Amino acid sequence: MNQLGVGIAITGSGSATPDVSLDNHQLSLMVETSDEWIKSRTGIQARRLADAQVSLTQLAARAGKNAIAMAGITPQDLDLIILATSTPDDLFGTAGQIQASLGATQAVAFDLTAACSGFVFAMVTAAQFIRTGTYKNVLLIGADILSRWVNWQDRGSCILFADGAGAVVMQANECDRFLGFSIRSDGTQYKYLQLAYVPQNQELVKGIEVGKGNFQPIVMNGKEIYRFAVQKVPEVIEKALFHANLTTEDIDWLLLHQANQRILDAVAERLKINSAKVISNLANYGNTSAASIPLALDEAVRQGKVKAGDAIAAAGFGAGLTWGATIFRWGRQS
Ligand code: UT7
Repeated sequence: MNQLGVGIAITGSGSATPDVSLDNHQLSLMVETSDEWIKSRTGIQARRLADAQVSLTQLAARAGKNAIAMAGITPQDLDLIILATSTPDDLFGTAGQIQASLGATQAVAFDLTAACSGFVFAMVTAAQFIRTGTYKNVLLIGADILSRWVNWQDRGSCILFADGAGAVVMQANECDRFLGFSIRSDGTQYKYLQLAYVPQNQELVKGIEVGKGNFQPIVMNGKEIYRFAVQKVPEVIEKALFHANLTTEDIDWLLLHQANQRILDAVAERLKINSAKVISNLANYGNTSAASIPLALDEAVRQGKVKAGDAIAAAGFGAGLTWGATIFRWGRQS
């Protein structure tokens, strides 16, 4: 328990994915690749993709609704909704549309962008509001539709990314289940993974121009991101564990951003965490960016793998560059 006496519990999870699935074989009809290459280099076998009728708001709201139901509260109980996304329906923010869709009339809602670390950053942000006694019931959603921003001719990146949404409810609680965290950024390396706005001058009147341009598709240096993840993620988990006063031996589940099975395996190996404790569902869903951690968590909770009281080390990493870890126990009581 912290000095203010407000504990935090993670009491519900939910998720939503589009119905359409694209497998590796189908990808190999689009770019020069193979099921064998993608499976062996990434672990991914299929990914869910959203067509033009699916909005981020719809996916996120469905995930949020499921999390609220599991937590046993109503939308009107929510004080705050945080949407972690890099692919909003509206650049002014999409969380407000989710608030309206859920009927969460009392909640304030805003977007947060930290790419594939977004969900972990959102957990930490939500925790600050609860710790200080400002809010009691927070819905956080990680949702992305990266398929809209992928260069489908680039075999080095299009094999990875996919669409989905995941959510959790965090609540003020008598005993504290949110045990530690560490979050980091290094903007000097931002070029390794970008979804950048490229402005082009448009003259309004003589001598005055504005930069009217477009966001360009994702550009990634896979090798550098791989190297960064395998080095930084174990470090940041160790740091979060130190703040939680725990060691890797106390951890029941390692819940990493679902980027690449080889990254998951390498991080687990460095931390000497048994592979049976690694939560992985990227074979079926690919890399869903801010959604991947809560999507994998929700599946594991609903399968009965993750049980109340289990200690979880969650870590996200990606564009920015950003990375971070949280340590928490699942559910309200042990
Ligand atoms: O949320 C964070 C998002 N990003 C990541 O997590 C990315 C992390 N990085 C990775 O996951 C891996 O670097 C990749 C899966 C992207 C690539 O795997 P790799 O083992 O690092 O491959 P590579 O880039 O070193 O490429 C090896 C070879 C190259 O051919 P040459 O130059 O050796 O002849 C590539 O051209 O594999 C080739 N290659 C492919 N071959 C078949 C690259 N992509 C493909 C492909 N199919 N899809």
